[in-house]
Amino acid sequence: MNPFREEAIVRLAAATGLPPEQIDSALTYPPTPELGDLAFPCFAAAKARRQAPPAVAQELARGEFQKPSDRIASAAAAGPYLNITFHRHAFAEWVLGEARSAAEDLSRSAEGGGRVVAIDYSSPNIAKPFHVGHLRSTIIGGALYRIFEALGYRPVGINHLGDWGTQFGKLIVGFKRWGSEADLKDILALNRLYVKFHDEEKKSPQLAGEAREWFRKQEAGDPEAMRLWQAIRDTSIEYFKRIYDRIGARFDAYAGESFFNDKMEPAIHLAEKAGLTQVSEGALIIDLSAHGINTPALLRKADGSTLYITRDLAAAIYRYDAYRFDQLLYVVGSEQSLHFQQLFKILELLGYPWAKSCNHVAFGRVLGMSTREGNVVYLEELLDEARERALKNMRENVEKRPEVEDEAAVAEAVGIAAIFFSDLSNRRIKDYQFDWNRAISFEGDTGPYLLNAHARIAGIIRKCGIEPARSLKDLDCRLLPEPEAHRLVMQVSRFPEALRQAAEELEPAVVAGYLLDLAKGLHASYQVLRVKGEEEKLARTRLELFVAVKRILAAGLRMLGIPALERM
Ligand code: ARG
Repeated sequence: MNPFREEAIVRLAAATGLPPEQIDSALTYPPTPELGDLAFPCFAAAKARRQAPPAVAQELARGEFQKPSDRIASAAAAGPYLNITFHRHAFAEWVLGEARSAAEDLSRSAEGGGRVVAIDYSSPNIAKPFHVGHLRSTIIGGALYRIFEALGYRPVGINHLGDWGTQFGKLIVGFKRWGSEADLKDILALNRLYVKFHDEEKKSPQLAGEAREWFRKQEAGDPEAMRLWQAIRDTSIEYFKRIYDRIGARFDAYAGESFFNDKMEPAIHLAEKAGLTQVSEGALIIDLSAHGINTPALLRKADGSTLYITRDLAAAIYRYDAYRFDQLLYVVGSEQSLHFQQLFKILELLGYPWAKSCNHVAFGRVLGMSTREGNVVYLEELLDEARERALKNMRENVEKRPEVEDEAAVAEAVGIAAIFFSDLSNRRIKDYQFDWNRAISFEGDTGPYLLNAHARIAGIIRKCGIEPARSLKDLDCRLLPEPEAHRLVMQVSRFPEALRQAAEELEPAVVAGYLLDLAKGLHASYQVLRVKGEEEKLARTRLELFVAVKRILAAGLRMLGIPALERM
C-alpha cells in the first residue's frame, strides 16, 4: 500500500475518530493536481461532530496537518474538502522505486490471495458461426482473466463450447442432404450447410423434425451421429484454436456442453429431490414465477432431450466441485440474461451457498462490425481486414513513422489493437458502434494511439544517448518539479487502483480509460521533459520516469490483449 496515502489515513483517523477503512474508501482526488494529491471529503466527520464540513476541513488543515512530516507537505481546506499535498520528490522516489522493484509491472499484488475466479468466456458454438458476440466475450473475458491474475487471484478460464444441442441435428441433416465427407473437414463448408439448413427449413418445415430426430439419436449414442459429431467437433476446435493463438486467448479448460452429457441426469435428480420440478405437457420444468421469473426453466423436453440450461446446471455444480471458486463469471451477451437469472435462481433454490457468487457479466451488441457475410463475422476475415487497413494506414503515414522493420507484424498488432480497444474502451453493457476508420486511427482514443505512445517512449530510451540508472541512488527526484512530471508520477502510482476498480466492477473499460489518461499525460510531457542532451542526473531521472510509464503501458495493454511494440 502507498505509504503516503497510509500516513494521511492514520492522521485523518486520529483527528476525526473515523475508522481507517471508512477514510480509505472516502478519499478521492482534487480536481487538478495543483490543488493537491489527495482529497478528504469532510461530510461524515462533520456529521459525527455536529459541525459544518468546511469548518472541519479548516480545523484539520490548521491542526493535525500542521505537524511536520517527511511525506505530507501541506494540507488546505477547500470548501468541505481537505486537500492534501505530498512532498513530491519523496513521492516520486517511492513511485519510481516501486516501478523498479515490481519485476513485471506495478500491479502484481497479493490482494487476490490466490482466490479462484472461474471465468466462462468465448464459448462459441461448434458448427455454428463464431459471431461478434463471441468475439466480445473473448475480448472482455480475456481482459478480466489477466486483470484478476495481476491482482493475485487465480483465474480459471473455461471455454464452455457449444458442442452439444439441436444444432448438431440440423447440421447432420444438412450434411446428409447436401454435404460431402470433405465438408466435415472444412469449417466454412460446415457453416454453409448450417445456413442452408435454415434457408431450406423455411420451405420444408419437416426438416426441423428430422433434425430433432438426429439429435435425439445423438443423445442416445447412435454410432453414425456420434461419428459425425466427433468430426465436426474436431474441425471446429482446430479452427478456434488457430484464431485463439492469433489473438493470444488461452483457456484452462475446454469442458464444453458435451462434457456434461452424463452429468445432467444427476443434476435433474437433485432438482426433483428438492421438489423444484413439475411435469408440463410431458416436459420437465421448474416454475420460477414465485421468484419473480415468469418464464419456467425447461430441463427436459417431452421427447427426453435436454437443453442448454440443463447443461449449465450440471456445469455450475461440476465447476464448484472442481475449482471451489470464489466467483464464477459468465461473460455472455445481455440477451441471455433471462437464462442466467433462471440458472442462478435454481442453484439458490437447490441450497448452494455459492449461488450468490455466480455473476452474469453481460455485454451489449456491436453495431456495424460486419464483413461480406453480413452480421456473421468470420473472425479470421475480420482480423485480416484489420491488418490490411492498418498496413494501408501505416504506408500513408510512412514519413511520420520510418522505423518499422517488420511491417506485417506491426500491422497485425495495430489491427488487433484497433479491434480490441474499440471494444474495451466502452463500458461493456453499452451497445457500441464499430467504425473502422476511427478504430484504426493513430489519433483519438484508440488502441493504435496507445501502441504509438509505447513505441515513442521506446524510441526515446533508444536514442537518448544515456544508460538508464543502475540504482535509485543515481537519481534525484527533486529534479522533477514540473507539473507534467508530477502528473505522470501520480498516474503511475494509480495503476493498481485502476486494476482493483476494474476487477470490482468487472469492467475492463476502467483499465482502458486509465491507459488513455496515462498516454495523454505522456503526450503533454515530451516537450517539457527532454532527456537527450540534458545534464546527466536530470536526464537519468526523467528517463527513469519514462521507463516506469512504458512498463505500465505495456502491462496494461497486455492485460487488454494488445501486444505492445518497441517500434512502429
Ligand atoms: N455457446 C453459448 C452461445 O453462443 C454461450 C455459452 C456461454 N456459457 C454458458 N455457460 N452458458 O450462446
